[in-house]
Amino acid sequence: MNIHKLDKVAKSLIKEAAGRIRASFTTELIIESKSEANDLVTNIDKETEQFFIKNIKQNFPDHRIMGEEGFGDDIQDLSGYVWILDPIDGTMNFIHQKKNFAISLGIFKDGEGILGYIYDVMGDDLLSAALGEGAFFNDQRIPRVEHAKVEQSIISINASWVVPNKYIEHEGMIQLLNKVRGTRSYGSAAIEILYVVMGRLDAYVSMRLSPWDIAGGIVIANEVGAIVTTLANEPINLMGQNTFIVSKPGLHGEIVGNYVKLK
Ligand code: IPD
Ligand code: CA
Ligand code: CA
Repeated sequence: MNIHKLDKVAKSLIKEAAGRIRASFTTELIIESKSEANDLVTNIDKETEQFFIKNIKQNFPDHRIMGEEGFGDDIQDLSGYVWILDPIDGTMNFIHQKKNFAISLGIFKDGEGILGYIYDVMGDDLLSAALGEGAFFNDQRIPRVEHAKVEQSIISINASWVVPNKYIEHEGMIQLLNKVRGTRSYGSAAIEILYVVMGRLDAYVSMRLSPWDIAGGIVIANEVGAIVTTLANEPINLMGQNTFIVSKPGLHGEIVGNYVKLK
């Protein structure tokens, strides 16, 4: 399999899918809840995933797809070529704000990430990377991320992790927030990873992310030297949900070592 052909097809599918998502703003959205009241999905999330699957299967019949909305394959391992797709990451933003949502896609070969994409649909910005070839923002090569220190950092964190919750001791998060230069929260894991890779944020932490939220981002982060692990400082397992941190070097060790206490 030629990685450049794969890359070309993936990019063209992402651009076409994004055009369809933007065009959907003139039609009425059908909004449903999934696992809980605030876990939202729309007809556009579903149609976008189906669009990818149809086209991937046409181009690469032996490739398998793990998609958030469940129209892909039943993936129990990462053997062969596996596309890990979130058709819209940040569905709540898509519905309420019409911005700050992304298409997130990682392509893995026998468990190794070979291509990664995060497409900011309304910004029309494509962040992409190929294994060993670096990362690109709209075809412009991105420099490797620099080291950072807590007191000079902007970190992205959802406010839910700074109040009592079932995943992490919130007192440690309060200490972290008191030490950093600033905090942000954008409501899309993919957009937040994009911002870390671009150096707009220094770290992003989350207590529970799914493979499709982060698969593309992991491939990209690796190419610029941003560190991705669970909050227990272990490798991410793409066969399930994970705690998550993507961070500039230096800062990663400080956050995980000094402020994180998982329950
Ligand atoms: C969600 C977003 C959100 C994160 C959630 C994800 P979705 O993805 O990435 O920022 O906090 O954990 O589930 O549901 O909009 O695809
Ligand atoms: Ca998601
Ligand atoms: Ca989604």
